[in-house]
Amino acid sequence: MRVKRFFVGITGASGHVYATRLIQALVRAGHAVDVSISASGEKVLRHECGVVLPELGSGADDGLAGWLGAETAAHVRRFAADAVEAPPSSGTALTGGVVLAPCSMGTLARVVAGFSSNLIERAADVALKEGRPLIVVPRETPLSEVHLENMLKLARLGGVVLPAMPGYYHRPRSIDDLVQHVVGKVLDRLGIAHEESARWNGELEPVPDPGTEPRGATPVEPADGAVRP
Ligand SMILES: Cc1cc2nc3c(=O)[nH]c(=O)nc-3n(C[C@H](O)[C@H](O)[C@H](O)COP(=O)(O)O)c2cc1C
Repeated sequence: MRVKRFFVGITGASGHVYATRLIQALVRAGHAVDVSISASGEKVLRHECGVVLPELGSGADDGLAGWLGAETAAHVRRFAADAVEAPPSSGTALTGGVVLAPCSMGTLARVVAGFSSNLIERAADVALKEGRPLIVVPRETPLSEVHLENMLKLARLGGVVLPAMPGYYHRPRSIDDLVQHVVGKVLDRLGIAHEESARWNGELEPVPDPGTEPRGATPVEPADGAVRP
């Protein structure tokens, strides 16, 4: 297998666990990852995952090991969102694809308008102009006409709109199962072989015995395995 380098742009939408798990899965699959996080993304990462990343170039480490684990971090490079001089800004730096996960409605709008106002938007712009895979994982609800139009525009430009919208037919037992379902879909679109998520085997569950508690009533375990009362 040829090792590829993917770019993951992380924005200020909710759902930073998707980015975390995606980066870990890409590295598990044997690939290298470039990461850039918008200013809003850093706030949401701190809020949702409790991860505070040091300012790049401040002399401190890049904070990746504490967030992603040392093994994953060894294959990841982090660039500041304003580092437009970084390799992902140029079409000459080959990538296997660009994923914006989670993708805010703001970044989506700027990508379809060709703004390229930071490294994340520029990397997406490069993917479109070079005809390389661009996958956005938007997270917003409900969706306004503006959001829907921008998603349609992106699809027409050749990008893939892959919402953070997990299915339930694989009967998830935990939040991690739900997250991995979306991660698996991203890897599928990138053409990466993986076993990150369950695949549909065509078999529906049998009718439950009368008196059995419906599965929908069973609480889903949180991703950290903690059990809520
Ligand atoms: C806790 C939190 C959650 C947010 N969730 C979303 C979201 O799910 N989708 C979205 O489009 N914006 C969301 N936002 C708003 C964006 O962060 C905001 O529009 C920001 O300007 C996006 O900037 P960026 O695209 O440069 O990352 C959220 C903001 C906060 C603080």
